Amino acid sequence: MRIIGTGSARPSLTVTNAMLEKFLDTSDEWIVTRTGIHERRVISSERLEDLAAAAAMRAMENAGVTSGQIDFIICSNVVNEYVTPGLGCVIQGMIGATCPTIDINCACTGFIYALDMAEAYLATKDMNNILIVCAEEPARMMNWKDRSSCILFGDAAGAVVVTKGDDLKAIRLSTHCKVEALYQKRRLQPTPFVTKEETDTDGVVMNGQDVFKLAVSSSIRDIDKVLTKAGMTADEIDLYVLHQANVRIIESIRHFVNQDRSKFPFNLDKYGNTSSASIPALLDDLNRANKLKTGEMLLLSAFGAGFTTGACILRWSK
Ligand code: COA
Repeated sequence: MRIIGTGSARPSLTVTNAMLEKFLDTSDEWIVTRTGIHERRVISSERLEDLAAAAAMRAMENAGVTSGQIDFIICSNVVNEYVTPGLGCVIQGMIGATCPTIDINCACTGFIYALDMAEAYLATKDMNNILIVCAEEPARMMNWKDRSSCILFGDAAGAVVVTKGDDLKAIRLSTHCKVEALYQKRRLQPTPFVTKEETDTDGVVMNGQDVFKLAVSSSIRDIDKVLTKAGMTADEIDLYVLHQANVRIIESIRHFVNQDRSKFPFNLDKYGNTSSASIPALLDDLNRANKLKTGEMLLLSAFGAGFTTGACILRWSK
């Protein structure tokens, strides 16, 4: 496959660390030192589907394809206001497409999983253009009294259009069940028949230190494996487009591959962790700023609740 267009959309409201100081026992200094995040965008008046459709339209425009030319939509999403139908169905209607859609929930790793699915569909089915939309509102999952988690996240949508091609050089996905590291439970509708005890959590429950360690160790392992698979060295990668969760996680990975900081583009200072939207939205920022050159090798790597992880090496040929 080959990426031929990128798009993104973010909520209008910027929430700075100083704004968080007003209702949380935290400080700009603590957040910046421990995470690298200065501010994030948080949904206020928007609907997530508006952001998702806007990102999709921008990606299609960038690719030079119309909604009628999209053969399949893969939507990566953890939570949105609809329990059903899938967000992909809602996006399909909003952009005027008529193709089948599927939603996946692989948490922050969703974009890499979606790329893998797209590669398989393009290789085995009669499809030319696949739209991947990652639309996330993690801010709506947080307990905004929990200073160790709510400071990390922001909302966003990122999208790409992929077509047949030979740019995906290696990809690796993994899941290691470790629910307790990062999860949220919700209580379902009661019935006259349920006898088991059910609980819901007050927003996301996260063991930050465990997640940090898992994130670094799994990313290092994935990066090592995809480099080997592609027969490449770390030096041959032009840009490491990593999941934007914490600048210290990115730094730990950078030390492992021993590459210059300039190879690690980031925007988490402005947007925080936007779950699976983080990599496609960063790709879009880079693409629109003309920072991606044809022939460059990109290494994408992400991790998230599950614990899911994934990495791939992609030649940029847009
Ligand atoms: N402001 C001020 N103090 C805070 C705080 C905040 N926002 N959040 C936590 N603290 C405090 C803790 O209560 C603790 O205080 P104590 O020592 O008095 O108990 C202290 O800071 C250190 O907490 P700790 O959890 O050890 O900090 P940390 O260096 O591990 O950083 C995270 C916490 C959450 C930033 C870090 O663990 C992390 O980024 N983990 C990965 C999370 C992630 O990426 N999740 C998404 C995965 S897709």
